[in-house]
Amino acid sequence: MAGKERSVTRTFGILTAGGDCPGLNAAIRGVCRAAYDRYHMNILGIANGYRGLIEGDVRPLAPADFSGIITRGGTILGTSREKPFKSTEIGEDKVKAIKENYNKYQLDCLVTLGGNGTNTTGYLLSQAGLNVLGLPKTIDNDIEGTERSFGFHSAMAICTDAIDRLHSIAASHNRVMVIETMGHKAGWLALYSGIAGGGDVIIIPEIPYNIKTIAGHLNKRARSGKSFSIVVVAEGALSAEEAKMDKKDRKKYRAELGLPSIGYRVAREIEAATGMETRATVLGHVQRGGIPSASDRVLATRFGTAAADLLARGEYGKMVAQIGIGIGAVDLSVPAEKVKKVPQDDPLLDTAAAVGTCLGAASALVLGGAD
Ligand code: F6P
Repeated sequence: MAGKERSVTRTFGILTAGGDCPGLNAAIRGVCRAAYDRYHMNILGIANGYRGLIEGDVRPLAPADFSGIITRGGTILGTSREKPFKSTEIGEDKVKAIKENYNKYQLDCLVTLGGNGTNTTGYLLSQAGLNVLGLPKTIDNDIEGTERSFGFHSAMAICTDAIDRLHSIAASHNRVMVIETMGHKAGWLALYSGIAGGGDVIIIPEIPYNIKTIAGHLNKRARSGKSFSIVVVAEGALSAEEAKMDKKDRKKYRAELGLPSIGYRVAREIEAATGMETRATVLGHVQRGGIPSASDRVLATRFGTAAADLLARGEYGKMVAQIGIGIGAVDLSVPAEKVKKVPQDDPLLDTAAAVGTCLGAASALVLGGAD
């Protein structure tokens, strides 16, 4: 493209916030390259999420800074879980500092790469008068308003690879292998990787599980000559009994159980209910580490360049999103304070049930609970 195109935005700051994930650097590169090459904008990199904006940890980014990073995991800007609106008293000081630094660095817009918390803060800052533009990032794929967030595809591939590896162990030892994925409130990662890995049972937070349903399914498999099973469970899964408890009682109940996480608990419950030898593996932060998948690199680049176009047009207060198969944008109020959960009628649940996967529900009326 010859020459530079006109841009409403002259200077913007960019930060990455919340848990890191593969694709952040690809997205930073996408925004910065398009903003710099096409529109000649000035770019300021903000360190460690919103904390860097509070503390004024800001530096200009030159092309060399965002070159050669598409393949790199993590984030060249650093990240933190700083939530400036969280506690009111200190929160007010933090928001004040953010506004002061936004003005001091003469930002026309703040570009934030993050998940639910990041976009909620972005929305609140835009309500407070700042220009903000969000890009959806998380391995959980639980951001309202976008079909996909970058990071999800890479994490799904990591989880599937792990399930594949544990499959051969399950088969060799005639064991049940329980694999715990991330996903506190939404079970997308467990559901997708569970289906991809041929999981026999998939337990997600949206469908409280009944151990009798699961034991019944595993016993039925054993009777049909299948001497091993794969159980994929999301970290935020809960039993049908717990689903009836309030938060406080649930916390107490879990503390009394004294187990480090749901994966270990499900493994113990399966062993007690079936007598089958069972092992638990918690995949943990490995799901967020390392190089992004090719799919995430492309998605992050598409989000990044679309964000640069929005900056050029001065279209603020939005989050770039995948809508259908195209890239668009939604108002920042759409993802704010929300979590995109797996709907009870999501077609993927039926897909899982149709290939004989048990979803652990107490009621046979709910998909996957019939065994
Ligand atoms: O928000 C992404 C996520 O990976 C969740 O799935 C997980 O529950 C959480 O972050 C873990 O956070 P941290 O890295 O702060 O322990």
